[in-house]
Amino acid sequence: MDIKLYLNPFVFLLIKDGEIVVWDYKNHNQYELEEEYVKRLIRISKGVTVKNVTKIDQDLINAELISTKPYILQKWEWDELSKIYHIGTQDIDGGVLLEDDKWVNWYLELCDEIKEEFNNKHIEYNGKEIKLPKPKFEILESRSMWDVEKSRMTTRSFNGLPITIEELSTILFSSFGLIHGDWKELTDMGFQQTGCRKSSPSGGALHPVEAYIFVMNVKGVSSGTYHYNIAKHCLTLINKQISYSDLKEMLCGQFFMEGCALGIFLVAHYDKVWKKYSHSRSYKDVYLDAGHLSQTCLLNATAYNFRTWISAWFNDTKVSHYLKISGIDVAPLFFIALGHGDKKIIPQKLENILKNKK
Ligand SMILES: Cc1cc2nc3c(=O)[nH]c(=O)nc-3n(C[C@H](O)[C@H](O)[C@H](O)COP(=O)(O)O)c2cc1C
Repeated sequence: MDIKLYLNPFVFLLIKDGEIVVWDYKNHNQYELEEEYVKRLIRISKGVTVKNVTKIDQDLINAELISTKPYILQKWEWDELSKIYHIGTQDIDGGVLLEDDKWVNWYLELCDEIKEEFNNKHIEYNGKEIKLPKPKFEILESRSMWDVEKSRMTTRSFNGLPITIEELSTILFSSFGLIHGDWKELTDMGFQQTGCRKSSPSGGALHPVEAYIFVMNVKGVSSGTYHYNIAKHCLTLINKQISYSDLKEMLCGQFFMEGCALGIFLVAHYDKVWKKYSHSRSYKDVYLDAGHLSQTCLLNATAYNFRTWISAWFNDTKVSHYLKISGIDVAPLFFIALGHGDKKIIPQKLENILKNKK
Protein backbone atom coordinates (compact mmCIF):
# COMPACT_ATOMS: atom_id res chain seq x y z
CA MET A 1 0.00 0.00 0.00
CA ASP A 2 1.27 3.51 -0.82
CA ILE A 3 1.92 5.77 2.17
CA LYS A 4 1.97 9.51 1.58
CA LEU A 5 4.24 11.53 3.87
CA TYR A 6 3.44 15.13 4.83
CA LEU A 7 5.84 17.70 6.22
CA ASN A 8 4.71 19.38 9.44
CA PRO A 9 3.93 22.91 8.15
CA PHE A 10 4.81 24.45 11.52
CA VAL A 11 8.57 23.92 11.37
CA PHE A 12 11.52 26.07 10.39
CA LEU A 13 15.25 25.42 10.22
CA LEU A 14 17.75 27.42 12.20
CA ILE A 15 21.51 27.34 11.73
CA LYS A 16 23.15 27.90 15.09
CA ASP A 17 26.62 27.15 16.48
CA GLY A 18 27.46 24.91 13.52
CA GLU A 19 24.27 22.86 13.93
CA ILE A 20 21.05 22.66 11.96
CA VAL A 21 18.16 22.89 14.38
CA VAL A 22 14.61 22.12 13.33
CA TRP A 23 12.09 24.04 15.36
CA ASP A 24 8.54 22.73 15.58
CA TYR A 25 6.96 25.91 16.83
CA LYS A 26 3.44 24.51 17.24
CA ASN A 27 4.46 21.66 19.52
CA HIS A 28 7.33 23.64 21.07
CA ASN A 29 10.01 21.05 20.19
CA GLN A 30 13.52 21.61 18.85
CA TYR A 31 15.90 18.96 17.46
CA GLU A 32 19.44 19.06 16.15
CA LEU A 33 19.35 17.35 12.77
CA GLU A 34 21.94 15.41 10.86
CA GLU A 35 22.24 16.31 7.20
CA GLU A 36 20.50 13.19 5.91
CA TYR A 37 17.44 14.08 8.01
CA VAL A 38 17.47 17.63 6.62
CA LYS A 39 17.67 16.28 3.07
CA ARG A 40 14.77 13.93 3.80
CA LEU A 41 12.61 16.78 5.16
CA ILE A 42 13.33 18.83 2.02
CA ARG A 43 12.40 15.84 -0.13
CA ILE A 44 9.15 15.24 1.79
CA SER A 45 8.21 18.93 1.45
CA LYS A 46 8.02 18.35 -2.32
CA GLY A 47 5.62 15.42 -1.82
CA VAL A 48 6.63 11.81 -1.21
CA THR A 49 4.80 8.51 -1.40
CA VAL A 50 6.53 5.37 -0.08
CA LYS A 51 5.74 1.65 0.10
CA ASN A 52 7.60 1.16 3.38
CA VAL A 53 8.56 3.62 6.11
CA THR A 54 12.35 3.73 6.57
CA LYS A 55 14.17 4.29 9.88
CA ILE A 56 14.71 7.98 9.05
CA ASP A 57 11.05 8.43 8.16
CA GLN A 58 9.97 6.64 11.34
CA ASP A 59 12.27 8.86 13.46
CA LEU A 60 10.76 11.93 11.79
CA ILE A 61 7.22 10.61 12.39
CA ASN A 62 8.04 9.92 16.07
CA ALA A 63 9.36 13.47 16.41
CA GLU A 64 6.13 14.76 14.79
CA LEU A 65 8.15 16.49 12.08
CA ILE A 66 6.27 14.57 9.41
CA SER A 67 2.99 12.68 9.37
CA THR A 68 1.18 10.11 7.32
CA LYS A 69 -1.95 12.23 7.64
CA PRO A 70 -2.42 15.66 6.03
CA TYR A 71 -2.28 18.71 8.28
CA ILE A 72 -5.22 21.08 8.61
CA LEU A 73 -4.18 24.62 7.75
CA GLN A 74 -5.99 27.78 8.85
CA LYS A 75 -6.07 31.00 6.87
CA TRP A 76 -3.20 33.37 7.68
CA GLU A 77 -2.54 36.33 5.40
CA TRP A 78 0.52 37.82 7.09
CA ASP A 79 4.03 36.51 6.49
CA GLU A 80 5.75 33.43 7.93
CA LEU A 81 7.55 35.48 10.58
CA SER A 82 4.29 36.65 12.14
CA LYS A 83 2.80 33.14 11.89
CA ILE A 84 5.80 31.64 13.67
CA TYR A 85 5.48 34.13 16.51
CA HIS A 86 1.68 33.91 16.68
CA ILE A 87 1.48 30.12 16.81
CA GLY A 88 4.82 29.66 18.58
CA THR A 89 3.59 31.64 21.59
CA GLN A 90 0.27 29.82 21.96
CA ASP A 91 -0.46 27.10 24.54
CA ILE A 92 2.55 27.74 26.75
CA ASP A 93 2.26 25.68 29.95
CA GLY A 94 -1.42 25.32 29.21
CA GLY A 95 -1.60 21.53 29.26
CA VAL A 96 -1.30 20.54 32.91
CA LEU A 97 -3.80 21.66 35.46
CA LEU A 98 -2.37 21.41 38.98
CA GLU A 99 -4.38 21.28 42.19
CA ASP A 100 -4.60 24.73 43.81
CA ASP A 101 -2.02 24.09 46.57
CA LYS A 102 0.44 22.54 44.10
CA TRP A 103 -0.08 25.41 41.70
CA VAL A 104 0.67 27.93 44.49
CA ASN A 105 3.82 25.99 45.45
CA TRP A 106 4.93 25.88 41.82
CA TYR A 107 4.42 29.65 41.50
CA LEU A 108 6.22 30.43 44.77
CA GLU A 109 9.15 28.24 43.69
CA LEU A 110 9.33 30.15 40.41
CA CYS A 111 9.33 33.46 42.28
CA ASP A 112 12.00 32.15 44.66
CA GLU A 113 14.25 31.07 41.77
CA ILE A 114 14.25 34.52 40.22
CA LYS A 115 14.13 36.75 43.28
CA GLU A 116 17.87 37.46 43.20
CA GLU A 117 17.37 39.07 39.81
CA PHE A 118 15.08 41.74 41.20
CA ASN A 119 16.39 44.82 42.87
CA ASN A 120 13.12 46.70 42.37
CA LYS A 121 14.99 49.74 41.12
CA HIS A 122 13.34 52.13 38.72
CA ILE A 123 15.03 53.18 35.50
CA GLU A 124 17.26 56.22 36.03
CA TYR A 125 19.75 57.92 33.73
CA ASN A 126 22.65 60.20 34.53
CA GLY A 127 22.15 63.66 33.12
CA LYS A 128 20.75 67.09 33.79
CA GLU A 129 17.59 66.79 35.83
CA ILE A 130 14.60 69.09 35.41
CA LYS A 131 12.56 69.11 38.59
CA LEU A 132 8.81 68.94 37.99
CA PRO A 133 6.42 70.86 40.23
CA LYS A 134 4.09 68.99 42.57
CA PRO A 135 1.16 67.62 40.54
CA LYS A 136 -2.22 69.24 41.09
CA PHE A 137 -5.36 67.19 40.68
CA GLU A 138 -8.16 69.79 40.66
CA ILE A 139 -8.80 69.49 36.94
CA LEU A 140 -8.73 65.69 36.90
CA GLU A 141 -11.06 65.63 39.91
CA SER A 142 -13.48 68.09 38.37
CA ARG A 143 -14.23 66.08 35.20
CA SER A 144 -16.58 63.11 35.11
CA MET A 145 -15.24 59.82 33.78
CA TRP A 146 -18.05 59.63 31.22
CA ASP A 147 -17.51 63.17 30.02
CA VAL A 148 -13.79 62.51 29.49
CA GLU A 149 -14.39 59.17 27.77
CA LYS A 150 -16.83 60.78 25.34
CA SER A 151 -14.46 63.67 24.65
CA ARG A 152 -11.41 61.54 23.86
CA MET A 153 -10.78 61.33 20.16
CA THR A 154 -7.81 61.21 17.84
CA THR A 155 -7.24 64.60 16.22
CA ARG A 156 -4.61 65.68 13.75
CA SER A 157 -4.64 69.45 14.13
CA PHE A 158 -2.41 71.04 16.78
CA ASN A 159 -2.07 74.84 16.90
CA GLY A 160 1.44 75.25 18.37
CA LEU A 161 0.34 76.81 21.67
CA PRO A 162 2.39 75.79 24.69
CA ILE A 163 1.30 73.81 27.73
CA THR A 164 2.74 74.61 31.14
CA ILE A 165 5.24 72.65 33.22
CA GLU A 166 2.51 72.24 35.87
CA GLU A 167 0.21 70.59 33.31
CA LEU A 168 3.06 68.40 32.09
CA SER A 169 3.87 67.39 35.66
CA THR A 170 0.30 66.32 36.46
CA ILE A 171 -0.21 64.44 33.20
CA LEU A 172 3.06 62.52 33.58
CA PHE A 173 2.44 61.70 37.23
CA SER A 174 -1.18 60.63 36.78
CA SER A 175 -0.37 58.54 33.69
CA PHE A 176 3.03 57.01 34.47
CA GLY A 177 3.93 58.01 38.03
CA LEU A 178 3.94 56.13 41.33
CA ILE A 179 0.56 57.46 42.36
CA HIS A 180 0.22 54.96 45.23
CA GLY A 181 3.68 55.37 46.75
CA ASP A 182 5.01 52.15 48.36
CA TRP A 183 3.08 48.95 47.76
CA LYS A 184 2.72 47.91 51.39
CA GLU A 185 -0.05 45.34 50.95
CA LEU A 186 2.38 42.75 49.55
CA THR A 187 5.42 43.48 51.74
CA ASP A 188 3.17 43.41 54.85
CA MET A 189 2.25 39.83 53.90
CA GLY A 190 5.93 38.89 53.68
CA PHE A 191 6.22 38.94 49.88
CA GLN A 192 9.14 40.53 48.13
CA GLN A 193 8.11 43.60 46.18
CA THR A 194 9.16 43.00 42.60
CA GLY A 195 6.91 45.53 40.92
CA CYS A 196 5.00 48.71 41.46
CA ARG A 197 1.53 50.12 41.04
CA LYS A 198 0.44 52.88 38.70
CA SER A 199 -2.89 54.11 37.32
CA SER A 200 -2.61 51.41 34.61
CA PRO A 201 -2.21 47.69 35.23
CA SER A 202 0.93 45.81 34.17
CA GLY A 203 1.72 42.10 33.73
CA GLY A 204 3.39 40.94 36.95
CA ALA A 205 3.36 44.61 38.07
CA LEU A 206 6.71 44.84 36.32
CA HIS A 207 5.90 48.03 34.41
CA PRO A 208 8.51 47.56 31.69
CA VAL A 209 7.14 50.49 29.67
CA GLU A 210 8.66 53.89 30.39
CA ALA A 211 7.74 57.35 29.11
CA TYR A 212 10.30 59.26 27.04
CA ILE A 213 9.29 62.83 26.39
CA PHE A 214 9.84 65.03 23.36
CA VAL A 215 9.34 68.54 24.67
CA MET A 216 8.30 70.73 21.74
CA ASN A 217 6.58 73.65 23.43
CA VAL A 218 6.27 73.52 27.20
CA LYS A 219 6.56 76.72 29.27
CA GLY A 220 9.41 76.17 31.72
CA VAL A 221 11.16 73.27 29.92
CA SER A 222 13.62 73.64 27.02
CA SER A 223 12.97 71.75 23.83
CA GLY A 224 14.67 68.34 23.81
CA THR A 225 14.21 64.67 24.57
CA TYR A 226 13.92 63.52 28.16
CA HIS A 227 13.30 60.40 30.21
CA TYR A 228 10.57 60.65 32.84
CA ASN A 229 12.15 59.44 36.08
CA ILE A 230 9.25 58.05 38.14
CA ALA A 231 11.26 57.61 41.33
CA LYS A 232 12.20 61.30 41.48
CA HIS A 233 9.28 62.68 39.42
CA CYS A 234 11.69 64.64 37.27
CA LEU A 235 12.85 64.74 33.65
CA THR A 236 16.39 63.69 32.73
CA LEU A 237 17.78 65.33 29.62
CA ILE A 238 18.80 62.94 26.83
CA ASN A 239 19.16 65.19 23.78
CA LYS A 240 18.96 68.97 23.38
CA GLN A 241 16.70 70.59 20.76
CA ILE A 242 14.17 68.72 18.72
CA SER A 243 12.13 69.98 15.77
CA TYR A 244 8.85 68.98 14.16
CA SER A 245 10.77 67.99 11.06
CA ASP A 246 12.91 65.60 13.17
CA LEU A 247 9.71 64.09 14.52
CA LYS A 248 8.14 63.88 11.06
CA GLU A 249 11.16 61.95 9.84
CA MET A 250 10.84 59.55 12.77
CA LEU A 251 7.11 59.15 12.13
CA CYS A 252 7.63 58.08 8.51
CA GLY A 253 6.38 61.36 7.06
CA GLN A 254 3.22 61.63 9.17
CA PHE A 255 3.03 65.37 9.80
CA PHE A 256 -0.05 65.18 12.04
CA MET A 257 1.92 66.00 15.21
CA GLU A 258 3.05 69.41 13.84
CA GLY A 259 2.17 72.04 16.43
CA CYS A 260 1.89 69.60 19.34
CA ALA A 261 3.31 70.75 22.68
CA LEU A 262 4.61 67.35 23.62
CA GLY A 263 5.38 63.95 22.18
CA ILE A 264 5.61 60.88 24.36
CA PHE A 265 7.27 57.68 23.20
CA LEU A 266 6.26 54.63 25.22
CA VAL A 267 9.44 52.58 25.38
CA ALA A 268 9.78 48.91 26.42
CA HIS A 269 12.58 47.80 28.73
CA TYR A 270 12.33 44.13 27.86
CA ASP A 271 15.01 42.97 30.29
CA LYS A 272 12.63 43.77 33.16
CA VAL A 273 10.25 41.16 31.78
CA TRP A 274 12.55 38.42 30.59
CA LYS A 275 14.08 38.17 34.06
CA LYS A 276 10.72 36.95 35.36
CA TYR A 277 8.85 35.61 32.34
CA SER A 278 11.37 33.82 30.17
CA HIS A 279 9.04 32.78 27.34
CA SER A 280 8.64 35.13 24.41
CA ARG A 281 4.84 34.93 24.86
CA SER A 282 5.40 37.78 27.33
CA TYR A 283 6.45 40.04 24.44
CA LYS A 284 2.71 40.40 23.76
CA ASP A 285 2.09 41.50 27.34
CA VAL A 286 4.48 44.41 26.96
CA TYR A 287 2.37 45.76 24.09
CA LEU A 288 -0.77 45.26 26.17
CA ASP A 289 0.90 47.25 28.96
CA ALA A 290 1.67 50.04 26.48
CA GLY A 291 -1.96 50.09 25.32
CA HIS A 292 -3.18 50.56 28.88
CA LEU A 293 -0.68 53.32 29.58
CA SER A 294 -1.54 55.06 26.35
CA GLN A 295 -5.28 55.10 27.06
CA THR A 296 -4.72 56.37 30.60
CA CYS A 297 -2.51 59.15 29.27
CA LEU A 298 -5.02 60.05 26.53
CA LEU A 299 -7.82 60.31 29.07
CA ASN A 300 -5.73 62.46 31.42
CA ALA A 301 -4.80 64.76 28.54
CA THR A 302 -8.44 64.89 27.43
CA ALA A 303 -9.50 65.92 30.94
CA TYR A 304 -7.30 68.99 30.35
CA ASN A 305 -9.04 69.55 26.98
CA PHE A 306 -5.77 68.82 25.19
CA ARG A 307 -5.91 67.14 21.81
CA THR A 308 -4.15 63.85 21.23
CA TRP A 309 -2.82 61.92 18.25
CA ILE A 310 -1.27 58.45 18.47
CA SER A 311 0.88 56.39 16.15
CA ALA A 312 2.34 52.91 16.10
CA TRP A 313 4.01 53.67 12.77
CA PHE A 314 7.52 55.10 13.11
CA ASN A 315 11.09 54.29 12.18
CA ASP A 316 12.39 52.37 15.20
CA THR A 317 16.05 53.03 14.49
CA LYS A 318 15.62 56.79 14.08
CA VAL A 319 13.56 57.08 17.27
CA SER A 320 16.10 54.97 19.17
CA HIS A 321 18.88 57.22 17.92
CA TYR A 322 17.18 60.34 19.35
CA LEU A 323 16.45 58.59 22.62
CA LYS A 324 19.94 57.05 22.87
CA ILE A 325 18.50 53.56 23.37
CA SER A 326 19.54 50.34 21.62
CA GLY A 327 16.22 49.68 19.88
CA ILE A 328 16.62 46.01 20.85
CA ASP A 329 16.47 45.37 24.60
CA VAL A 330 15.11 48.89 25.04
CA ALA A 331 12.79 49.76 22.17
CA PRO A 332 10.04 52.26 21.26
CA LEU A 333 6.48 50.89 21.01
CA PHE A 334 4.04 53.75 20.62
CA PHE A 335 3.87 57.50 20.14
CA ILE A 336 1.45 59.98 21.71
CA ALA A 337 1.32 63.64 20.63
CA LEU A 338 -0.59 66.08 22.80
CA GLY A 339 -1.23 69.78 22.94
CA HIS A 340 -3.73 72.47 22.08
CA GLY A 341 -5.67 72.32 18.84
CA ASP A 342 -9.05 71.76 17.29
CA LYS A 343 -11.16 68.68 16.79
CA LYS A 344 -10.20 68.00 13.20
CA ILE A 345 -9.35 64.39 12.42
CA ILE A 346 -8.15 65.46 8.98
CA PRO A 347 -5.66 68.35 9.23
CA GLN A 348 -6.09 71.48 7.12
CA LYS A 349 -2.87 70.68 5.25
CA LEU A 350 -4.29 67.35 4.10
CA GLU A 351 -7.63 68.97 3.19
CA ASN A 352 -5.80 71.55 1.04
CA ILE A 353 -3.79 68.85 -0.72
CA LEU A 354 -6.98 66.92 -1.43
CA LYS A 355 -8.77 70.10 -2.71
CA ASN A 356 -5.89 70.88 -5.08
CA LYS A 357 -6.06 67.37 -6.50
CA LYS A 358 -9.70 67.85 -7.62
C1 LIG B 1 -2.38 50.85 17.86
C2 LIG B 1 -2.79 52.11 17.16
C3 LIG B 1 -2.00 52.58 16.13
C4 LIG B 1 -2.35 53.77 15.48
N1 LIG B 1 -1.50 54.25 14.52
C5 LIG B 1 -1.84 55.40 13.89
C6 LIG B 1 -0.96 55.93 12.91
O1 LIG B 1 0.10 55.40 12.62
N2 LIG B 1 -1.33 57.10 12.30
C7 LIG B 1 -2.50 57.76 12.58
O2 LIG B 1 -2.77 58.80 12.00
N3 LIG B 1 -3.34 57.25 13.53
C8 LIG B 1 -3.04 56.10 14.17
N4 LIG B 1 -3.86 55.62 15.15
C9 LIG B 1 -5.12 56.35 15.48
C10 LIG B 1 -6.34 55.70 14.86
O3 LIG B 1 -6.43 56.02 13.50
C11 LIG B 1 -7.59 56.18 15.61
O4 LIG B 1 -7.53 55.72 16.94
C12 LIG B 1 -8.85 55.65 14.93
O5 LIG B 1 -9.08 56.30 13.71
C13 LIG B 1 -10.08 55.78 15.81
O6 LIG B 1 -10.31 57.13 16.16
P1 LIG B 1 -10.43 57.60 17.66
O7 LIG B 1 -9.10 57.41 18.31
O8 LIG B 1 -10.82 59.05 17.55
O9 LIG B 1 -11.48 56.78 18.34
C14 LIG B 1 -3.53 54.46 15.83
C15 LIG B 1 -4.31 53.98 16.87
C16 LIG B 1 -3.92 52.83 17.56
C17 LIG B 1 -4.76 52.35 18.71
